[in-house]
Amino acid sequence: MKLKGLRAGLLSVWLSGFLLIALSFYGTQLLSPSSSLNVPFRYSSDSITAPRITIFTTLYGSSFEENTQALLAIRSWLALSSQITIVLFTQHNPSSSFTDKFGSRLLIDSTIDFTFLGTPFLHSMLARIEAYKSDIAVLMDPETVLLPDLISALNHAHELDRDWLLVSSSVYIPRFPFHWDESGHFWRQDSGKRVRFGELQKMMSLRSWQSNSSECKMIMAWNNLELPLHCGVLPPFLYQRGTYNQWIVNEAMSCKRRFVFDATSTISSFFLGNAENMYNRSDNVSELKTRNWEYIGNSHLGQLYGSLLSKSYTLPKLLKCNKRYMFVSASDRSIDLSIPKGKSLGFRTREKISACISRTKSRSLKLVLVQKDKAVPPPLKFPFDVESLLPLVADKNRTIVLSIAGYSYKDMLMSWACRLRRLEVPNFLVCALDDETYRFLILQGLPVFIDPYAPKNISFNDCHFGSKCFQRVTKVKSRTVLKILKLGYNVLLSDVDVYWFRNPLPLLHSFGPSVLAAQSDEYNLTVPINRPRRLNSGFYFAQSNGPTIAAIEKVVKHAATSGLSEQPSFYDTLCGEGGAYRLGDDKCVEPETNLTVQFLDRELFPNGAYGDLWLKNDVRAECEKKHCFVLHNNWISGRLKKLERQMMKGLWQYDASMRMCV
Ligand SMILES: *[C@@H]1O[C@H](CO)[C@@H](O)[C@H](O)[C@H]1NC(C)=O
Ligand SMILES: *[C@@H]1O[C@H](CO)[C@@H](O)[C@H](O)[C@H]1NC(C)=O
Ligand SMILES: *[C@@H]1O[C@H](CO)[C@@H](O)[C@H](O)[C@H]1NC(C)=O
Ligand SMILES: *[C@@H]1O[C@H](CO)[C@@H](O)[C@H](O)[C@H]1NC(C)=O
Ligand SMILES: *[C@@H]1O[C@H](CO)[C@@H](O)[C@H](O)[C@H]1NC(C)=O
Ligand SMILES: *[C@@H]1O[C@H](CO)[C@@H](O)[C@H](O)[C@H]1NC(C)=O
Ligand SMILES: *[C@@H]1O[C@H](CO)[C@@H](O)[C@H](O)[C@H]1NC(C)=O
Repeated sequence: MKLKGLRAGLLSVWLSGFLLIALSFYGTQLLSPSSSLNVPFRYSSDSITAPRITIFTTLYGSSFEENTQALLAIRSWLALSSQITIVLFTQHNPSSSFTDKFGSRLLIDSTIDFTFLGTPFLHSMLARIEAYKSDIAVLMDPETVLLPDLISALNHAHELDRDWLLVSSSVYIPRFPFHWDESGHFWRQDSGKRVRFGELQKMMSLRSWQSNSSECKMIMAWNNLELPLHCGVLPPFLYQRGTYNQWIVNEAMSCKRRFVFDATSTISSFFLGNAENMYNRSDNVSELKTRNWEYIGNSHLGQLYGSLLSKSYTLPKLLKCNKRYMFVSASDRSIDLSIPKGKSLGFRTREKISACISRTKSRSLKLVLVQKDKAVPPPLKFPFDVESLLPLVADKNRTIVLSIAGYSYKDMLMSWACRLRRLEVPNFLVCALDDETYRFLILQGLPVFIDPYAPKNISFNDCHFGSKCFQRVTKVKSRTVLKILKLGYNVLLSDVDVYWFRNPLPLLHSFGPSVLAAQSDEYNLTVPINRPRRLNSGFYFAQSNGPTIAAIEKVVKHAATSGLSEQPSFYDTLCGEGGAYRLGDDKCVEPETNLTVQFLDRELFPNGAYGDLWLKNDVRAECEKKHCFVLHNNWISGRLKKLERQMMKGLWQYDASMRMCV
């Protein structure tokens, strides 16, 4: 209101020809700090008609209270204006005592995807943001202190009559020298004196506090949340791990759906401390070394997808000059006046504003421009092998869920992994059979290792049951399981075509340590489920103990000399040829090791032929009626038919086109 009044006032002064008066007014405004800057300020609440602003960010780790810098920053955001709501994306729900402190304007959202190390995915965050009802979305790092000029800049942008994306870089400050006064909603110095707005702005202009890091810390804000920021699909960038700021600005510019501008000189924000601080808070020092690949992964994604870094450009800047907001183009000469909704300014005013701009040293966003074809990112190397992954992913029973897949099954593997995430089974691990799969899965944030002994040529469509390829691949499986058992971890091996309805681990543990529990492949309803060669080696639970290790070792040896897949080796070794070691209708006992094999109840662990489940209209409902734990998508020939069946029946959890779990 005040601003508009002032603008109107100035206009009438100019139009009446009091040029000198106006000029001198300009002069005093520019040359001496505005008197308002010397008044101690507090964050204030304001009018109801203002746009609703939602700030989206994330908090890491399970202990939010420890992240003092982020908490400090969040307090300052809430105090900016009653227009502001905050959405925190987190993996672990914070205690209610934590959320109570912030009241109803802080929302917790734990529905987005994270990597196995707990790093959130940006594409998942942005997809989620589209669902929120707000006039303006702001995305920024949690350790950022904001000043009230953010609100006035956003209020101004809200007046624009087109869709926009605002970017603004933050000033890096290793230690913020002020304390937050909870009751008064302002910052205090050590002496207890209230901090002036001007002092904070002066702090921002000190070059020495600029970050040396090549990736700037950036605030992004945009209107019309339902409209994506750019055309095309966002690759699975990791949040706060570099590259994507530049990428999004590029894509948004080339897409032309939104007016993209730089508001760095109109929005004051401080980035408190750097990412290293965050890792140092972790109680595990070795974790520090394990993060570099995340940045490299993002730069690979940036190179692979989109039009990243094709040519250099400067964004139009939003400047505030003598209380008037305006857009200035790259050259600093031509002025794109942003008079909202159909007003216009006279020639003299333009002149004056030119003068004003040429005297204003404005900060601007520094985008690191790298030519797409020149800068080859360093090779993506995952700092983990199977030995170092196991302690990271295993649950407290030292149990992991293992899957093994090659490139042609990568989408099915993703669907499987998404399903386990959904069921909150985080302790899974993937063995990749080839380099392509390995690299693909690293970029999807999955805990993956590569089997160096795997047969190399397996990425083709017809690696189905009974084929030569299938035989070779399955032998990798038992060898890998044996290796992990020997490292002291229990393994639930689950093929990627096993759809999980519930977590079977508590039940599988209940059979006791020297029992190997396996799915039965028997389809005939009237015969025992432990009939010869009916052990399905695509879903079994083996525990790390002497008898089990000895027995699996025998299976691996048997398979190595057999011309068949490993499935018959499992049966013939553990249940005897022709079923010589069978016990009752659903067990075998291997005499040398005394290992018991328990065939799992087919009602709870149906194979793909059992009860014609896959032929039912609503497979999910049928299985849920039976309280199934899993359903195997086997007894079908051909990769495409298998994929199609699972998708058609709605047992599919991965959107390959969006590269996201659904
Ligand atoms: C930035 O880097 C330069 C040289 O690389 C160094 O002299 C300077 O101290 C660094 N500044 C900060 C704030 O780290
Ligand atoms: C983080 O820890 C490492 C090693 O302990 C140390 O060298 C580094 O200075 C620390 N960084 C910060 C920002 O505290
Ligand atoms: C840190 O990680 C290492 C290896 O991953 C592990 O051996 C160690 O127990 C971990 N320490 C803590 C405190 O979690
Ligand atoms: C891989 O296997 C496919 C299908 O059997 C075959 O056409 C191709 O030549 C093989 N490639 C290599 C390098 O062995
Ligand atoms: C861990 O093992 C115990 C005892 O064997 C079992 O009761 C529990 O369900 C297991 N936990 C999980 C998550 O599997
Ligand atoms: C199931 O087994 C019984 C007994 O061996 C046999 O008579 C019947 O034909 C079998 N059914 C099918 C569908 O194979
Ligand atoms: C297996 O069990 C039998 C009978 O209980 C026993 O005699 C034999 O020593 C056991 N073998 C092993 C390897 O524990």
